[in-house]
Amino acid sequence: MKPLIIAIDGPSGAGKGTVARAVAAELGYRHVDSGAMYRAVAWKAVRGRVPLEDEAAVARVAEQSRIDVTSAHVRIDDADVTREIRTPEIDRAAAAVARLPRVRIVLVDRQRRLGAVGGIVMEGRDIGTVVFPTADVKVYLDASPDERARRRANDPAHTGGPKAVADVATLLTERDQLDRTRATSPLYAADDAVVVDTTGKSVEEVVREVMTVIKRLEPGG
Ligand code: C5P
Repeated sequence: MKPLIIAIDGPSGAGKGTVARAVAAELGYRHVDSGAMYRAVAWKAVRGRVPLEDEAAVARVAEQSRIDVTSAHVRIDDADVTREIRTPEIDRAAAAVARLPRVRIVLVDRQRRLGAVGGIVMEGRDIGTVVFPTADVKVYLDASPDERARRRANDPAHTGGPKAVADVATLLTERDQLDRTRATSPLYAADDAVVVDTTGKSVEEVVREVMTVIKRLEPGG
């Protein structure tokens, strides 16, 4: 089978990261978390005291940075920011940066180049709608707000934040609202995406469902 482009979108805490990583491992594909790219730019802008509403300045930060996102690490220039980008401060900063059209142009272009030869599972908010509108497989993962808040509160990769589920739920709802209502590339399921509700399902079950969608593309599948 030719190397595919697989787009996995959905809100925070829907399980995109875990599922995308497992699907990529199963297929021997590259896994790219596009959100980590927005987070890395936000981290560098915050550190450089670049005002996050200064679109031209933040776009320059994006343009002038080397960003390397693998399944295990996120690097910007020479800094390994794998952990530093998962804090409540960077949650907010990344959402602000992701609203800026000129920043999106720079990062979407890089994301497209990463997928140019296929063999990729990319997760995000606009992968099936904007980055790869002709992706071979589009999956939109969702889950109830309660379940998403519970998962995020228990996520060891997310450091330094309030851990009470109720606090996480409030922040998550705010960020969802920003993602769904922003003018550029708002979060929604592409018309041709397979929507999977992961509420109450194990990672294995969701990975099976996604693999079933992918296998339908195989000759005779
Ligand atoms: O997925 P994650 O929470 O790490 O994403 C960080 C931020 O980047 C979020 O605010 C999200 O809206 C934004 N994002 C985006 N487009 C993507 C991936 C993430 O706007 N493809």
